[in-house]
Amino acid sequence: MNQIYNEDYKITIPKLSNVKMVITSPPDAEEIGLKPNSSDYRLFIEDFVSDITKVSNLICVVMTDRKSKGVIPKHSFLTYNFLEIHGFNMLSHKIWVRSLKSNLFRLTYTHVMVFNKGSIKQAHYSEYEPDVWEMPAEKRANSYPVELVKRVIKNFTSRGDLVFDPFMGTGATAVALKQEGRNYVGSELYEEIYKECIERVNNE
Ligand SMILES: C[S@@+](CC[C@H](N)C(=O)[O-])C[C@H]1O[C@@H](n2cnc3c(N)ncnc32)[C@H](O)[C@@H]1O
Repeated sequence: MNQIYNEDYKITIPKLSNVKMVITSPPDAEEIGLKPNSSDYRLFIEDFVSDITKVSNLICVVMTDRKSKGVIPKHSFLTYNFLEIHGFNMLSHKIWVRSLKSNLFRLTYTHVMVFNKGSIKQAHYSEYEPDVWEMPAEKRANSYPVELVKRVIKNFTSRGDLVFDPFMGTGATAVALKQEGRNYVGSELYEEIYKECIERVNNE
């Protein structure tokens, strides 16, 4: 508990128990050396969805679709489909608007999708009810704001709950959990990013 491992998330998963929720943003195709519209990246999504469904019945995936060669491979829809195949329903779908300026490659909004299997209590904070969340993007590439994670965890978890992020990056998930009195566990594969993450989380 309250540990981040410098390893592939697949090595971390067998060590986990009593995880209330998974919150994560999976790597973009190019972050893992794949082409956005390749079948290999679709397989990656199918595989990580299958892995995280074994950890918890409550899952939040934060995902930005991107343009590639004139088309938009809808990785967010694929994620939805794979979770549905595993028996999950979509509980909440927010659109995080990062910017109103257009971007050549990435859509400027991000899907914040929460899925569950079975019953779940929600806090329903009225200030988080709107379906569109406007928040500036983080300076760190591929990161989401701590505030975004806070909104999700305050709605779906209680103090003391354990939340897993298989793709911890520079640690926004862990920082939000720490600030809100929840427990975190996560994995980050790349040593340089892992070190940055640990420093950030420890300074919190
Ligand atoms: C989109 S970023 C996550 C960003 C994070 N949410 C944040 O706000 O900082 C995805 C991260 O997953 C890491 N990653 C990629 N493959 C991984 C794997 N198999 N296991 C663990 N981490 C992995 C990448 O190094 C990258 O830091």
